[in-house]
Amino acid sequence: MNNKATTKQKVTERAQVPGTASKEGPRGRLIVVEGIDGSGKSTQLHLLDKWLRHLGLMVFNTEWNSSEVVKEITSKGKKKALLTPTTFSLLHATDFADRFERNVHPLMRAGYFVLADRYIYTAYARDAVRGCNPKWVRKIYAFATKPDLAFYFHVPVDIAVKRILTGRPKLKYYEAGMDLNLSNDEYESYRIFQSRIIEEYKGMAPKEGFRVMDGTLDIELQQKIMRRQVLELLPPAVATIASRELSAE
Ligand SMILES: Nc1ncnc2c1ncn2[C@@H]1O[C@H](COP(=O)(O)OP(=O)(O)OP(=O)(O)O)[C@@H](O)[C@H]1O
Ligand SMILES: [Mg+2]
Repeated sequence: MNNKATTKQKVTERAQVPGTASKEGPRGRLIVVEGIDGSGKSTQLHLLDKWLRHLGLMVFNTEWNSSEVVKEITSKGKKKALLTPTTFSLLHATDFADRFERNVHPLMRAGYFVLADRYIYTAYARDAVRGCNPKWVRKIYAFATKPDLAFYFHVPVDIAVKRILTGRPKLKYYEAGMDLNLSNDEYESYRIFQSRIIEEYKGMAPKEGFRVMDGTLDIELQQKIMRRQVLELLPPAVATIASRELSAE
């Protein structure tokens, strides 16, 4: 009896390919993008989403700080500038846990390609800059699955700031790091805050195995570089077709 079950299980395991649904719970893939505001994360993730769908794979997108459950309290706290580094960190961790348990984890079990626009590394970087103990922050997020690929988009702070301010001239209090008393001028504060976050990302990159992208390259070229790296996560048959398509471009 037991032997039979084991053989059946083995056959099922062999049949499991990422990006393909199965009741047996195959492991999907998790791809995350990280970088400061304006580094081009959403632009690239959107293009990657389109490509994976074109290849016939099941894709789910999740975005930092987007859980309906904690939205109201986070926004209330932020509007009134009531958050301390600890409460700021814990609210974002709650947001993350809600999305992780409700979407990311079950969908990965169902074989989806989950694309995360910011992941635990955003908390590692921002909370450290806000003065939280890095070990404490890592413990809070210990339940999170390690991504299959984490792309870090590196851009000099001046380029990112220019991109952001083109579309949106007014900065928000926490976004500009005004809670840290870095400068009375919100643009100057924003610049200092983002520079510190870059330093945190740089420190994390080798340890966390980031695929470092030159975020100043043009959009199409960056996407091509990303897709080449994502090939390694695709089911073999899909990877063959995708690789051929990429070479033909
Ligand atoms: N490689 C690029 N070269 C020039 N402009 C770019 C490039 N990538 C993105 N942009 C532009 O920069 C702006 C910010 O890009 P995007 O929204 O992708 O950044 P982001 O990292 O997601 O920012 P945020 O963290 O604020 O969400 C957009 O207007 C986008 O069109
Ligand atoms: Mg974005």
